[in-house]
Amino acid sequence: MGKKRILSGIRPTGRLHLGNYVGALQNWVKLQEEYQCFYMVADWHALTSDYENTSDIKSNIDAMYLDWLAAGLDPDQSVLFIQSKVKQHAELFLLLSMFAPLPWLERCPTYKEALQQITDKDLRTYGFLGYPILQAADILIYKADAVPVGEDQLPHLELTREIARKVNFLYEKVFVEPKEILSTVPKLLGTDGRKMSKSYENCIYLSDNEKTVNEKTREMVTDPARVKRTDKGHPEVCSVFDYQKVFTPDRIQEIADGCRQATLGCVDCKKTLAKSLNALLDPMRKRREEILAKPDYIQDVIREGNKRAAIEAEKTMVEARRILKMVE
Ligand code: TRP
Ligand code: SF4
Repeated sequence: MGKKRILSGIRPTGRLHLGNYVGALQNWVKLQEEYQCFYMVADWHALTSDYENTSDIKSNIDAMYLDWLAAGLDPDQSVLFIQSKVKQHAELFLLLSMFAPLPWLERCPTYKEALQQITDKDLRTYGFLGYPILQAADILIYKADAVPVGEDQLPHLELTREIARKVNFLYEKVFVEPKEILSTVPKLLGTDGRKMSKSYENCIYLSDNEKTVNEKTREMVTDPARVKRTDKGHPEVCSVFDYQKVFTPDRIQEIADGCRQATLGCVDCKKTLAKSLNALLDPMRKRREEILAKPDYIQDVIREGNKRAAIEAEKTMVEARRILKMVE
């Protein structure tokens, strides 16, 4: 019996931050043991909303591969590829589009929410409406058994299963209905307590050096009611504590008690956190150096990944064309 398959993707947002790491990447690294993994940069998906300016995509992709490899994605085990370099995704996207009723797409919660909340670009495009079909093509083309995703992506996975079911029912059972693997780690907020986002400049990046991590940690917001060192704190309202839960889990009781009884000060608490973060990031820093010392390494990984992905994608397309009786 071969390993089960996983596919997941991320849009090329550039350098990855701690939120990306605990929300996805950490999980991706772990899953490599048990599954055959396909991890993809969804650069066409980036275009669905950012079609007016694509100038960052290329450098974002390189930065992301570097983070992937530094964090422990292993190109010998997993297939690390770029969506737009495997043209079969576009072909399957087109074919699946024929089967996707407009109401399925129009009632998709991510779509409705984006139209409401994002007002600085025109998202009433054909491409943006079709976002989940492209995602379905990404998944179905590898016959992935499972997809590691955040909660926000569940509607897209449901749609993927519905489209797979429809084609399987009308023609022949070619597509696999994928399950979700939900990330269990709670969402990390930014260092200022707001949503973690590049545009707020409140992220700690995997590529930050030790000094930067120390500085950013020192400036994190804490329990606003704890003004003096002798004031008792409320860890449950403190974002430093949220980070400690994730990054210093084995000392969490001691930290909570110390905070509540004012035996632990915020300065020391933050030093402990910075230590935990640097302990996590240090091995990644080392690997990053090693990778950067090999000039063509990343480009080779990308090329090899694209090639391996295309071979698997083409196998499914041969079947898809056959059942739909497309001319050969
Ligand atoms: N839509 C996903 C996100 O924004 C990215 C993505 C594209 C994806 N294709 C995928 C995730 C296929 C899982 C499977 O996070
Ligand atoms: Fe937050 Fe730690 Fe200060 Fe308590 S001691 S308020 S948990 S930073």
